[in-house]
Amino acid sequence: MKLWGGLFQEQTHFEVEDFSSSLEVDARLWEVDIFGSIAHAKMLGDVGIIPSAEAGAIVVALQQMHEEFKLGKIQIDPTSEDIHSDIEKKLYQKIGALAGKLHTARSRNDQVATDTRLYLAGEINHLVTHLKALQNYFIKTAEKHFETLLPGLTHMQHAQPVSLAHHLMAYFWMFQRDIERLLETQKRVLHLPLGSAALAGTGFPLNREQVAKDLNFNSVSENSLDAVSDRDYIIEFLSDSATIMMHLSRLSEELVLWSMPEFKFVELSDKVTTGSSIMPQKKNPDVAELIRGKVGRVNGALIGILTTLKALPLAYNRDLQEDKFHLFTGLDTVKSCSRLMLVMLEEATWNTANMKKSLAGDFSNATDLADDLVKKGLPFREAHEVIGRTVQYCIKNKVALEQISLNELKALHPLFDEASLAILPHLAVMQARHSQGGTSPKAVAVQLEQAKALL
Ligand code: ARG
Repeated sequence: MKLWGGLFQEQTHFEVEDFSSSLEVDARLWEVDIFGSIAHAKMLGDVGIIPSAEAGAIVVALQQMHEEFKLGKIQIDPTSEDIHSDIEKKLYQKIGALAGKLHTARSRNDQVATDTRLYLAGEINHLVTHLKALQNYFIKTAEKHFETLLPGLTHMQHAQPVSLAHHLMAYFWMFQRDIERLLETQKRVLHLPLGSAALAGTGFPLNREQVAKDLNFNSVSENSLDAVSDRDYIIEFLSDSATIMMHLSRLSEELVLWSMPEFKFVELSDKVTTGSSIMPQKKNPDVAELIRGKVGRVNGALIGILTTLKALPLAYNRDLQEDKFHLFTGLDTVKSCSRLMLVMLEEATWNTANMKKSLAGDFSNATDLADDLVKKGLPFREAHEVIGRTVQYCIKNKVALEQISLNELKALHPLFDEASLAILPHLAVMQARHSQGGTSPKAVAVQLEQAKALL
């Protein structure tokens, strides 16, 4: 059954049927489509556009259909053009000609835009839940690692020691911004197009505010042409998602590096790694690599929707049907990646001894020794020079800076004293950075309080 058969004298070409069907992509909208129809039917009855008894019968049939879908008693017919036709067809099977009244003052154009927004708003909540679970992991783990030393890097070279807690909490704040962006986007997603009809509005005296309230939308579209053509919210969501994926990929990259034998800072569990068919010693960090690799899907989806929309004239054009392919590709990917990141982290073991070992003799305490001379009155340039020479001395004599003797230090500069030695252990170096947002346990404790207040 077609929703538009009247005019047509020839059958649609079978390849066109297949080519133009969106069912495979939009089947997942079945539930929101029913919810949207229930709200629309109720409103039609309440304002008297159709008799309220008839509206009541439509609503009951839709509610039954919802129940039957959930219980698996009915299935989507794969030959339907899209999910909207499928639901309407099922309504006909239930209540006959009365089903035809549901589509009064409505078009698939405002219907599909409403369904997609309603679905996405719900999915944003699920995604936020995944991200919050990740944030929770960072807090929980950071709490155990205030004093765990880790080389802090710039240019991938040892720069200054930081705590593992501080490093993990950096990700907490990335995901915090992601959550804030998603919730901002969600506000704009919940802007109701239903009631715009095909493109120009309708002569029927709709109560759009009632529908918005019923469906938990927070506003009603102001312009019917814009309402049926607008897919900005998909661009926005996919852009948010691309940022989340970028964050996940940075963490994945660190986990891949840190699980290398050269680092061994982290051990990824057998549950999330795979072996090689030829090299028996291998344990590959596939989950991290796949998250890193799947960035391509989400970036592709963002470019995909931007390209579909570019130069598209008003109002609805069938091009817009492609929107959901991009949206769902991006959505499914970002959801599974944020979930799997947590699974991988929950199973990971942090090898704190190896982190500490990697700091020995790395000179990442050199800045602090320079600061010591500066505090004693030496100009920074001169201090920098002295420490440069000190490092050179250590390299030549194969001694770690933190192991240098007082006599050796004094020979390098007369301002060095007993107190200079106390500065040098990496732990002391890390603990000394207590500026707001710094890596010292005291500063990280403040950060953790701020983070906990947000969860
Ligand atoms: N399946 C279509 C889509 O996803 C529904 C809207 C069709 N509207 C139309 N006038 N052909 O965009």
